[in-house]
Amino acid sequence: MNNYNFRLIRADDYNKGYIELLSQLTTVGEISKDRFVLQLELVKKSIGHNIYVLEHNNKIIATGTLLIEFKIIHNCSSVSHIEDIVVDKNYRGQNIGKKLIEHLIYISKLNKCYKILLDCNEYNKKFYEKCGFKVVNNSMALYF
Ligand code: ACO
Repeated sequence: MNNYNFRLIRADDYNKGYIELLSQLTTVGEISKDRFVLQLELVKKSIGHNIYVLEHNNKIIATGTLLIEFKIIHNCSSVSHIEDIVVDKNYRGQNIGKKLIEHLIYISKLNKCYKILLDCNEYNKKFYEKCGFKVVNNSMALYF
């Protein structure tokens, strides 16, 4: 792989294995194409909410979400949040994950973000460290 043309998600990615790819990350559920398209409409309306994909041979083989949070502090600066990163299991270990994170870092810088935040499990810590991240503070969650 030497084509890292990360682009924004489109409705027809539903037919290119996008849901199957996401299921390698977590439970996705039974999502119809109509429901998917509706959800993408919400994403599009939500300023700063961008889902990127990488297509190869008509299949979506990697995805990552970048949420840009427009803040008031620090002179109305911005912070970005990385979510839902996944590379297809047949393509892992080829630097695609790293290129995806580099792309999200690039977009964050373009949007003048002063930092990027993400949560990951212990297993993925090394991967993000290789992408330049470091562990800071305590992450907390309240699940419903
Ligand atoms: N442990 C140690 N090192 C790792 C790991 C790991 N789990 N994963 C990757 N690396 C290293 C690689 O060896 C490589 O090192 P190098 O630069 O010295 O050669 C470097 O990190 C970059 O690796 P890539 O090949 O770019 O990683 P890959 O394309 O395989 O993608 C990813 C990594 C995204 C974590 C993939 O394994 C995956 O999709 N996993 C399942 C889904 C998942 O857990 N996603 C992360 C959720 S956290 C979130 O979304 C914020």
